[in-house]
Amino acid sequence: MDKKKAILAIDGKDPIELNILRGSLGCQELDIRTLGAQGYFAFDPGFTSTASCQSSITYIDGDKGVLLYRGFPIDQLALNSNYLEVCYILLYGEAPNVKQFHDFKISLTHNSLLHEQIYNLLRCFCRHAHPMAMLCGMTGALAAIYHDSMDVHRKSHRDLIAIRLLAQMPTMVSMCYRYATGKPFVYPCHDFSYSGNILYMMFSDPSETYVINPILERALDCILILHADHEQNASTSTIRTAGSSGANPFSCISAAVASLWGPSHGGANEACLLMLEEIGTIENIPVFLRRAKDKNDPFRLMGFGHRVYKNYDPRAMVMREVCHEVLNHLEVKKDLMEVAMELEYIALHDSYFIERKLYPNIDFYSGIILKAMGIPSSMFTAIFAMARTVGWIAHWKEMYDEGIKISRPRQLYTGYTQRNFNSKITS
Ligand code: SDX
Repeated sequence: MDKKKAILAIDGKDPIELNILRGSLGCQELDIRTLGAQGYFAFDPGFTSTASCQSSITYIDGDKGVLLYRGFPIDQLALNSNYLEVCYILLYGEAPNVKQFHDFKISLTHNSLLHEQIYNLLRCFCRHAHPMAMLCGMTGALAAIYHDSMDVHRKSHRDLIAIRLLAQMPTMVSMCYRYATGKPFVYPCHDFSYSGNILYMMFSDPSETYVINPILERALDCILILHADHEQNASTSTIRTAGSSGANPFSCISAAVASLWGPSHGGANEACLLMLEEIGTIENIPVFLRRAKDKNDPFRLMGFGHRVYKNYDPRAMVMREVCHEVLNHLEVKKDLMEVAMELEYIALHDSYFIERKLYPNIDFYSGIILKAMGIPSSMFTAIFAMARTVGWIAHWKEMYDEGIKISRPRQLYTGYTQRNFNSKITS
């Protein structure tokens, strides 16, 4: 079938023909790869209109509020699957059968212990260091542990790297919490589920038998599923860019952790809870909404808005239901939930937010659940990083499977034209 073409006519010069690419879903895309050789670059800071790669992992329809992991809708996975099964789907493309799932679980179990040097590294941080700073350090340090046993050009090694990272991220994240609270480290226990193990490593007391709360175990597992992947977001684009040079994947994960930490990205869940606590009561909402709309005020409504979703983030819908379940089960105060729901209602009826298609995103309700579970707000983004590790690794592996090409964008130069140098500090 003939490829559709676009014709680019510039300054009356010979028209430039561009192929139009069409994926299995989503909008048509202009293939501009030949433009550079013809002396033109596309200018698109923030990549609002640029596809950086092709991928078959996750699809988002921002206008319809659709999110698919390997074609499976996020709400079906959140309600009917578990995080490890979703990890398998993201990494290998298909749902596992019973044996495949069992083997996958066993491989993670056998790789969940961290090298003791990582425990020693963690002890070098101040106790009050932000968990994301510690996580950046620990993930990067794994490159010093595994640097000589990993040939990223061998698929079997890339598969092992994925298993090691998936298996060890919960241990590292739990360690950050234990270290910050002065509690002894708890090693992973093979008897528990992936999410149960996280609760065990974070909250158990070595002097007592720890009983996992199944409601909280299920809630955490759902939160991990909702955060697992989200196509070319800033941190995933970071691991693709860092990995495109062939860099050690553990260092690349550290770069992705750093990117996720930003308040415009994964740091928004911590920022959102702090915002809800600052608002405090429903009566204070109008003041904060005015600030959010004031161009001269840097304040943004945390947990609201999204580069891609111009409709309700489907993950936020599931998160809101999980929030009600956890708060009802724990019989905790719902004051923050009431502020969040009233804030959402008022904003969604306000022309400023309606005109800009600003809706709650994944970070709007997640903090309320995590706080109710006893997780401090400083740990929220580390929980997000733990969940997103599978997405980062899936994209890193896909980049190799597709044949990596170093990322090297160009620029619109606005500096001096050439001029002669005369030093002002030497006579
Ligand atoms: C995540 O990319 C991903 O997929 C990320 C993520 C994932 O799973 O990986 O989904 C996770 O990062 C979710 C987003 C978390 N961040 C926040 O909740 C922080 C608050 N949100 C904003 O900072 C903002 O909405 C962004 C950063 C999320 C998106 O910014 P864009 O796409 O660059 O949009 P923009 O800044 O150009 O805003 C367009 C307009 C502007 O107003 P005008 O100049 O047109 O008058 O909307 C306004 C903005 O001022 N606006 C907001 C707002 N978000 C956008 N105004 C008030 N409050 C907000 N939250």
